[in-house]
Amino acid sequence: EKIHNKIFKNASEASLIVAREIAQLIVSKQAENKDCILGLATGSSPIKVYEELVRMHKEDGLSFRNVITFNLDEYYPMKKENHHSYHHFMHEHLFNHIDIKPENINIPDGTILIDALKQYCIDYENKIINAGGLDFQLLGIGRTGHVGFNEPGSHINSGTRIITLDYITRVDASSDFNGIENVPKRAITMGVSTILKSKRIVLMAWGQNKADVIKRTVQGDISPEIPATFLQNHDNTTFVLDQSAASEL
Ligand code: GLP
Repeated sequence: EKIHNKIFKNASEASLIVAREIAQLIVSKQAENKDCILGLATGSSPIKVYEELVRMHKEDGLSFRNVITFNLDEYYPMKKENHHSYHHFMHEHLFNHIDIKPENINIPDGTILIDALKQYCIDYENKIINAGGLDFQLLGIGRTGHVGFNEPGSHINSGTRIITLDYITRVDASSDFNGIENVPKRAITMGVSTILKSKRIVLMAWGQNKADVIKRTVQGDISPEIPATFLQNHDNTTFVLDQSAASEL
């Protein structure tokens, strides 16, 4: 099995290490006069990484002028200005506080008309390829074993597309949305193959409620039942865990 696990005392310590890796990548690309292509995630897991990147920008002069970002997913339908949108989340936690060029920010658009979605998803995929491919993909994991919103049943060859959210995922989001009836039923997500093409992948998980899915992802058979198991096929993936999330390994 190819996945490396790094276990830390807590999420704060772990997040510093992940943020430093991202910062080093950005700086090394700057030295080569190249763009740095980052795949970014939402949810509670990456928040401290973004906090540290913002701190490095403000206090250490880390610049994001050469950074192009592609977010994994967005609810559908979803307006950008809605407080539950991943568009809003990313601006609040990262983009509003750094010097990234607005035109270099890519987040799936939850307002695309349903008839235009298929082409929109093909274009999103091609935009990643034309930028040179993802240098680094940050991931969280859902209790269903989803990465991005690739729910159980997602194919290893899947690309960016619209999916139906798993019931468990909607339950987990229900407190944010003030009730499951307010959680969107669908989302746009990068596919499993989109994620696996990244040159480097770091998946973060914190807390006891992730311990079971982490065990099944790291030790279980590769299967679309737990899409995160497809990461076992990737050459350069690290799982960054706190002690609770790693407690069943
Ligand atoms: C959402 C996101 C995923 C994320 C997952 C875990 O469903 N679409 O990308 O990994 O939730 O969320 P959290 O980090 O809050 O546990």
